[in-house]
Amino acid sequence: MQKQTDYEQAIKTKYPEQVVIAIAKDKNGRANPVTLGWTMIVSGTPPMMAIAVAGRHYSIETIRHSKCFTIAFPSSEMADAALFFGSKSGRDIDKFAEFDCKTEPAKAIDSVLLSEAVANFECTLESETVAGDHIIFVGKIVASHINTEPKKRLYTVGPGHKLGPVS
Ligand SMILES: Cc1cc2nc3c(=O)[nH]c(=O)nc-3n(C[C@H](O)[C@H](O)[C@H](O)COP(=O)(O)O)c2cc1C
Repeated sequence: MQKQTDYEQAIKTKYPEQVVIAIAKDKNGRANPVTLGWTMIVSGTPPMMAIAVAGRHYSIETIRHSKCFTIAFPSSEMADAALFFGSKSGRDIDKFAEFDCKTEPAKAIDSVLLSEAVANFECTLESETVAGDHIIFVGKIVASHINTEPKKRLYTVGPGHKLGPVS
């Protein structure tokens, strides 16, 4: 049986929510990582993923400029990086210069991979769509990478950006 309630109440049941870090270079060639919970696989053949980015974020500019982006699945040890990349704007700071997070060059696009992530996906920008206060970017995956060590993924496990693994 269901009881009707308001959206704010019902959406609190969504946890755990996956976390990704998307990375795109700006017009100065600086890679800008952004933490995102609103993401999904949208096609299997060809493989494609979508991310929803708020209209005010610097990442909108970086993705539109470079027309490609990485989607990294951070590991459960990367909670501090995810919180930093998800609370500072690349408009104000160079996030990779200010937070120590190992990267390596992407293979098929002009971006970087997160070395300690569970997996990284290199995407070329296929389309963008306005959805309310966010822009949905759809990326076609042109290269995929997994960590050589076993790692657990990072999730938001509760309200207030409470991050951790899910068992
Ligand atoms: C766990 C977590 C999940 C987030 N999910 C999203 C999201 O799905 N979409 C979004 O636009 N911002 C999301 N944010 C907020 C952005 O990461 C944050 O505003 C960031 O500082 C924007 O950076 P930028 O201005 O360099 O693009 C999230 C932050 C955290 C910590």
